Amino acid sequence: MTTSSSSAAEKILKIKIWKQCFIGFLILLICCSLFYLYHEENNTYILKTLELNGSVKEGDILFKMNCVGCHGITARGLVGPDLHSITERLNDTEIIKQVVQGNTPPMPSFEIDPQKMSNLLVYLHSL
Ligand code: HEC
Repeated sequence: MTTSSSSAAEKILKIKIWKQCFIGFLILLICCSLFYLYHEENNTYILKTLELNGSVKEGDILFKMNCVGCHGITARGLVGPDLHSITERLNDTEIIKQVVQGNTPPMPSFEIDPQKMSNLLVYLHSL
């Protein structure tokens, strides 16, 4: 009687453990696929941006609207750093990530389409 009930309990425990493993595996799988999708999306965004020919004039306007509050009207720096030699220190991909990903608060992330990002990039190159 005792053995059969304990083996039943064991069975239930085993099933529980298997369930937990399965759920853990599922969560891991979902996290991995989300990470992969996020990366893919970012890569296509960056590639698209790099393909385009931006306009300095449009980039200047975008900069004046979005960035001067922190980087200064001449991009010489205020709260944020001076951006004049930025294209020597960071490559284009790094600059795009800096603008769209918001990894370094207090600088916010900007949701801009590849054409506008390309304009900003060309503007930063022109400084
Ligand atoms: C709310 C303030 C703020 C705004 C608005 C802002 N930035 Fe920034 N930015 C910062 C700060 C602060 C840093 C430094 C972040 C760090 O590395 O810790 C920075 C860093 C950067 C860097 C990297 C500089 C370096 O030396 O590594 C680039 C490039 C840049 N910003 C571009 C832009 C552009 C382009 C815009 C407009 C679309 C913009 N920022 C808007 C605050 C701002």
